[in-house]
Amino acid sequence: MILVTGGAGFIGANFVLDWLAENEEPVLNLDKLTYAGNLENLAALAGNPRHIFIQGDIGDAALLEKLLTTHQPRAVVNFAAESHVDRSIHGPEDFIQTNIVGTFRLLEAVRGYWSRLDDAARATFRFLHVSTDEVYGSLTAEAAPFAESHRYEPNSPYSASKAASDHLVRAYHHTYGLPVLTTNCSNNYGPYHFPEKLIPLMIVNALAGKPLPVYGDGMQVRDWLYVKDHCSAIRRVLAAGRLGETYNVGGWNEKPNIEIVHTLCDLLDEMRPRDDGQPYRTQIIHVADRPGHDRRYAIDARKIERELGWRPAETFESGIRKTVRWYLDNQDWVANVQSGAYRTWLQTNYGEALK
Ligand code: NAD
Ligand code: TYD
Repeated sequence: MILVTGGAGFIGANFVLDWLAENEEPVLNLDKLTYAGNLENLAALAGNPRHIFIQGDIGDAALLEKLLTTHQPRAVVNFAAESHVDRSIHGPEDFIQTNIVGTFRLLEAVRGYWSRLDDAARATFRFLHVSTDEVYGSLTAEAAPFAESHRYEPNSPYSASKAASDHLVRAYHHTYGLPVLTTNCSNNYGPYHFPEKLIPLMIVNALAGKPLPVYGDGMQVRDWLYVKDHCSAIRRVLAAGRLGETYNVGGWNEKPNIEIVHTLCDLLDEMRPRDDGQPYRTQIIHVADRPGHDRRYAIDARKIERELGWRPAETFESGIRKTVRWYLDNQDWVANVQSGAYRTWLQTNYGEALK
């Protein structure tokens, strides 16, 4: 089996769902269930014996030791993290604890487990660390996209904590020989995206008749990738990536934020027009910019294509349409997130059975 951490969050849940749809191999899913962890994302797996969910912290050394020894995973895929830049600005502490100290504890536990494996299992074991393009800092409008060789220049507490975790993963390979792989991916979007992030927030606010808050001039550029393409890239790197290497993952889809918001408004005008016939663009407002706001991210994804043959399957146009459709079709999921009901989903739906 494989151990997935953070598998109740946005990307982790998509990864677990896709993995179990495509593989026979079971998943042990370790997630702390912070505000961002939502077991409703995994509702389709209820009763599936190939999915074992454990609520716990990647920083809990004793729990990790027990899980690794009991379940003997052949790989670990580490999604668990605090992931929202704005939250990291208001309160960096949790980012340091989970992204840096938590990754360190996970690496330590995995190192101990891996060193006790027999030669054959030790040779095939993998630790895949899921990271972000934000570790590279901000690009000017003319600069070439981030290659894997770009220097680390993180600007937010979030990206600094992810950069630190990447360095620890690298060090565990060079110092202890741990068979690691790192992926640095651009901004994801798609189903189960928590509505504090740009794309789901705009869809949800638009439908609720609320303002659509664009930071500053809205000309900051992000490189968007449909989440299922990120999941396929991780599967590919896990299967065939070269040990100790990092792979940048991106969608070749650079867009300014304001263009994203306009696209969402236009899709909603088409798919769910406002009752008063007004366009959703009338809800857009410009608000104060984020402190230290990175101007542009862009990924050069040629290495993963050249070495591993991976390319995104989805265009931005097809992916964003699917995403808007998903939010329109899953209003209960949105309502449970907004009311906080998702936090008690486990108890409500499984009761005593899972305690
Ligand atoms: P998310 O915030 O939606 O989910 C994070 C998950 O980790 C949640 O389920 C949460 O409960 C869990 N978690 C948090 N702290 C934990 C801890 N101490 N122990 C165990 N579980 C814990 O995040 P996401 O958007 O799904 O991102 C997943 C990973 O991908 C992160 O490492 C992030 O840095 C990286 N990433 C995200 C993006 C993006 O656009 N969202 C892009 C590139 C890389
Ligand atoms: P976000 O989804 O938070 O991802 P990240 O900061 O990790 O790239 O934000 C994406 C972009 O959208 C970023 O430039 C900030 C901007 N943004 C807004 O303009 N308004 C918003 O309400 C949010 C949440 C983000």
